[in-house]
Amino acid sequence: MLQDRFGRAIDYLRLSVTDRCDLRCSYCLPARFKNFEEPSHWLTFAEIERIVAAFVRLGVKRVRLTGGEPLLRRNVTELASRLNGLGLNDLSLSTNATQLAKYAKGLKAAGVTRINVSLDSLDRQCLHQITGSDAFDQVMAGLEAARAVELSPIKLNMVAMKGINESEIDAMADFALNNGYILRLIEAMPMGDTGRSAQFLDLGAVRERLVARYQLVPEALELGGGPARYWKTPSGNGRIGFITPLSQHFCASCNRVRLTVDGTLYMCLGQESSFEFRPLLRGGASDAELEAAILSAIELKPERHEFNEQPAKLIRFMSQTGG
Ligand code: GTP
Ligand code: 5AD
Ligand code: SF4
Repeated sequence: MLQDRFGRAIDYLRLSVTDRCDLRCSYCLPARFKNFEEPSHWLTFAEIERIVAAFVRLGVKRVRLTGGEPLLRRNVTELASRLNGLGLNDLSLSTNATQLAKYAKGLKAAGVTRINVSLDSLDRQCLHQITGSDAFDQVMAGLEAARAVELSPIKLNMVAMKGINESEIDAMADFALNNGYILRLIEAMPMGDTGRSAQFLDLGAVRERLVARYQLVPEALELGGGPARYWKTPSGNGRIGFITPLSQHFCASCNRVRLTVDGTLYMCLGQESSFEFRPLLRGGASDAELEAAILSAIELKPERHEFNEQPAKLIRFMSQTGG
């Protein structure tokens, strides 16, 4: 089992398969962000499979494909299928859903069990304003396609921002509860200048309001092993999750690390400790050397994030590590 210095078991790897995205969410990618790394720096599928296999031998059981937008990585379903063959308990994907209608069936066939979809507004114009594209119809078609092939549960990720989509939270909750999606409300994290300039909304009061409105009760079970804390409706069928890294962080139960498309392992989303695996993968390292490197990288995992530090330290954009 992989364990860090603070006794946390690390069994969840977030794997970014591209840093590109077809949207420009205001809190994530800046409009000027065009200098993407050359694909030769990207790990190949064979390299990804090899490093994930090493993580699996050390106890990682869950892998989430992220980006950028993971469905923009060519042949991503083939990669999913190869990773699924490594014996994971949980292979999931976080997507903006613009390409999901095209890929849902293939992802399901490749062994992806569940997906999380970014959806910040049900209002076409507001979504356009946040994402920089009129993506509403594509996203809705993607959600329907995912439902049809039972890529479930489907979680909707809404980054809740003061004065931007705050007034749409209730409509989103109604939509999610009526359609069998799990809504997660997320506090904007100050990553890169985009994240820092997002209109932060403390979700404490929002939670209180939604708990009263839907008579929610806290969910005792962990769902998916991620950072959300869940509440459920009295019938037990509907769930709303809150991801509150700023107002109420969840670092004590952190179980994850994240690998970028160019082979850098970040030990925390909100702190810079990292380890470069590409030189090892391309320099003829043995499997034993890879495993030893993973073990020593995990030693670098910090106790908690540095999002609250002033002046802000994190220049890394969310799109580099996929959240
Ligand atoms: P589940 O396995 O379904 O629980 O996935 P998840 O919520 O971990 O993944 P997803 O990609 O949907 O991320 C939702 C939000 O949680 C995004 O804003 C991520 O940046 C954020 N997030 C995920 N993991 C961490 C983490 O370890 N720390 C912090 N601060 N945020 C995280
Ligand atoms: N703060 C919080 N969440 C973010 N995401 C992207 N950028 C940020 C940010 N600055 C979310 C996306 C997506 C998830 C993977 O990360 O909305 O749903
Ligand atoms: Fe873990 Fe860092 Fe996320 Fe905290 S912010 S939960 S330590 S990855």
